[in-house]
Amino acid sequence: MHSLKSLVVSAGLSVSILAVTAAPQADPCAKFAGQTFVVPADALACLKSFPFNETLRQNVIGNIAGVFDFYTFEDFYLNSPPPFQESTTNIRADIARINSTKYETDYDFNRAVYDFTTQLNDGHTRWFPSCYTSFQNLIPTPVVTLDENGVQNVFVAPDAVEFITLIGTNFTDHFAQLGFNWQRLAGAKVLEIEGIDAYAYADHIASTQSGNYLDHGVRVNSAFGSYRISGTDFSQRFGDISGPAFPDQNTLTLKLIPVNSTKTETVQVPFFANYVGAPFTDRASFWTANCAANEATNGADQRPTGSSARRATPRRARAAIIDSSLKNAVGLPSPFLPTAPPVNGSTGVIKSFILPDNITGVMFVGSFEGDFVQFQTDTLAAIQQFQASGVTRLLLDLTNNGGGFVCLGQFLHQFLAGSQIGYPGFQSTNRANPLAQKIVAADIALGNTDQFTFYSPDNWAFLNDTEQPLTFNYIDPAVIRKTNGVNDPTSQRFEDICTPFSVPIPETPPFDLNNVAIVGNANCASTCAMFSTLMFERHQTKNVIFGGKPGEVMQYKGMAGNQVLEWVDLDNEIQTAGLGDDPLAPPELLVNANMRHNWRTAWSFLNEQVPIAYVSELPQLRFAYTKDTYNNPQNLWTFAYVIFHSPGFYTHLMHFYLYDRASQLFK
Ligand SMILES: *[C@@H]1O[C@H](CO)[C@@H](O)[C@H](O)[C@H]1NC(C)=O
Ligand SMILES: *[C@@H]1O[C@H](CO)[C@@H](O)[C@H](O)[C@H]1NC(C)=O
Ligand SMILES: *[C@@H]1O[C@H](CO)[C@@H](O)[C@H](O)[C@H]1NC(C)=O
Ligand SMILES: *[C@@H]1O[C@H](CO)[C@@H](O)[C@H](O)[C@H]1NC(C)=O
Ligand SMILES: *[C@@H]1O[C@H](CO)[C@@H](O)[C@H](O)[C@H]1NC(C)=O
Ligand SMILES: *[C@@H]1O[C@H](CO)[C@@H](O)[C@H](O)[C@H]1NC(C)=O
Ligand SMILES: *[C@@H]1O[C@H](CO)[C@@H](O)[C@H](O)[C@H]1NC(C)=O
Repeated sequence: MHSLKSLVVSAGLSVSILAVTAAPQADPCAKFAGQTFVVPADALACLKSFPFNETLRQNVIGNIAGVFDFYTFEDFYLNSPPPFQESTTNIRADIARINSTKYETDYDFNRAVYDFTTQLNDGHTRWFPSCYTSFQNLIPTPVVTLDENGVQNVFVAPDAVEFITLIGTNFTDHFAQLGFNWQRLAGAKVLEIEGIDAYAYADHIASTQSGNYLDHGVRVNSAFGSYRISGTDFSQRFGDISGPAFPDQNTLTLKLIPVNSTKTETVQVPFFANYVGAPFTDRASFWTANCAANEATNGADQRPTGSSARRATPRRARAAIIDSSLKNAVGLPSPFLPTAPPVNGSTGVIKSFILPDNITGVMFVGSFEGDFVQFQTDTLAAIQQFQASGVTRLLLDLTNNGGGFVCLGQFLHQFLAGSQIGYPGFQSTNRANPLAQKIVAADIALGNTDQFTFYSPDNWAFLNDTEQPLTFNYIDPAVIRKTNGVNDPTSQRFEDICTPFSVPIPETPPFDLNNVAIVGNANCASTCAMFSTLMFERHQTKNVIFGGKPGEVMQYKGMAGNQVLEWVDLDNEIQTAGLGDDPLAPPELLVNANMRHNWRTAWSFLNEQVPIAYVSELPQLRFAYTKDTYNNPQNLWTFAYVIFHSPGFYTHLMHFYLYDRASQLFK
């Protein structure tokens, strides 16, 4: 519900618009056109103003059903192995349910598809309708989980004033107008949220809204705020409780105890929604700008003779989540930025430092995105400077690393482990459905190369590291596996081809691998998860994880898929193989949206019968955040010195769990 004051304010606004236009029904989108922030009820009224349309439903359902044919993990969902049982669902039954449910509005239909895919908890496999992902709802009291004197609780971020001020007066003036004093709530201890225990509410958000990671504990950490690198800048994340993706909550009710008080209060904190969509002036132009398919929605024939121009840059496999909160990221308040002088190679997604002890080097690897070559030259520059400066141990911070280029994960692994380890990646497969088999056959017949497609055989190497010839059909005949008792045909096993890298790889590790450790918040997705798993499975690198719900288990990594294809990428493959008119091809989308999916599976190094995604691996050490570390990377790194000193540390290193159920899946 709105607070009383905001009801008065928005009612006042609509009255004046009605008076000026004298229209019987004011345009619910025009009402806030041109504004960066909107009262959530107004935002939702615009989103819900588009009626349900059966033609669009059939188009979307047909599209996503076709995309799911390519989804490598589909059959795992029938009975997700422990500890990932929460995700168990019958995907085809979910699609059938949404295909036959009555919806009032196009929003309601899209929200059902969004929620269904989000609750698969695989950030690679989600429905993103641009029309309805055009807001982020924000409160000025973002919540975090902190340890205080040995007891963990949920708190309003103690730096809320510094953090929220960075959003600007368009946001903060609204609360001043409402007379809502959020500043006094900074640092308050939060006992309950929406009438339930604060950590139970985090569990609820993790189960319903966070998505992205198979492991529930990792999703609980996304519910809270934390530091991160957004693009190439330090940033602070709201967390999914405080910055949800839809403007469907007007307030968040917090039962809390403010700093320096002993009195428990219940406060209704108003949300204010940030518009992050394309510019528009009214309802019709909102639809055109955000909702109708545009020239980037669907794929095209990529061959030189095809309808699309030849690509200038090579195609590169990517594995990353989509975190829409990066669209409107604000910085980390300056008092909390690292004070150690930056090391060479720190202008991109990697920020490197030498800590004041002069022997610990830190690389904060914010993502594996951005400039593909610069990532490699920055790694080289940082490690050269570390070595020249006498650094003997290396801390890698992977906090909120959403992944990126598959080959950059393999690069960083190879650089740290030395070229002597050989192939630095995993075995991989994709799904051998009938259309995928037709695509590979057509690519071979047409002579399509890796310049235009991901399906052509020259993208991949045999397990002896030799590139597959252009004529080698790796997907037909299929390898038939059993997953949850169902026939699950895959391609043959293959490897990525990431070499040669852009910088020389040392033959032996630049640092004793026993002196390399990883810290993070387990929100380490896709390429990041594959990298941290490689470091752990091959070199027993310590993964040290912060945050989460006290007493609840958390894996050290998020979604280790291998390669994601956006709908446009999959459609490019289909069109470039000349199969756009094949009856098995999903229909071109009529709306501006993306059904992405996990297109390749990476198989665990320790047990090549189990996808990495389904291998349960716990961190070797787990710590709570404190008010000194949740938003202060250098304080966290300094605290993490302890991991290099922890007695008996190496004895409990091999403390991972390969669940029997998972390895039995294929028997
Ligand atoms: C504040 O909002 C106005 C429109 O209402 C917009 O033009 C301006 O760019 C916004 N300022 C910032 C800093 O976002
Ligand atoms: C439903 O959407 C289709 C495709 O955009 C459109 O042609 C049709 O007019 C819409 N139907 C209604 C009743 O608006
Ligand atoms: C959805 O239902 C319609 C009938 O209402 C049916 O024609 C269509 O095949 C169904 N789509 C899928 C993907 O099952
Ligand atoms: C709480 O009390 C301490 C000590 O009196 C004071 O320094 C601090 O500013 C107070 N904090 C708030 C938020 O009132
Ligand atoms: C680290 O190096 C700096 C600069 O050379 C020096 O001032 C400082 O005392 C050194 N710190 C330690 C702990 O050795
Ligand atoms: C840092 O980079 C600069 C410019 O490339 C180079 O001259 C310098 O030697 C590097 N410093 C160290 C300590 O490696
Ligand atoms: C690598 O393996 C492939 C497939 O088994 C085989 O055809 C090829 O001869 C091998 N290459 C080398 C160099 O061993």
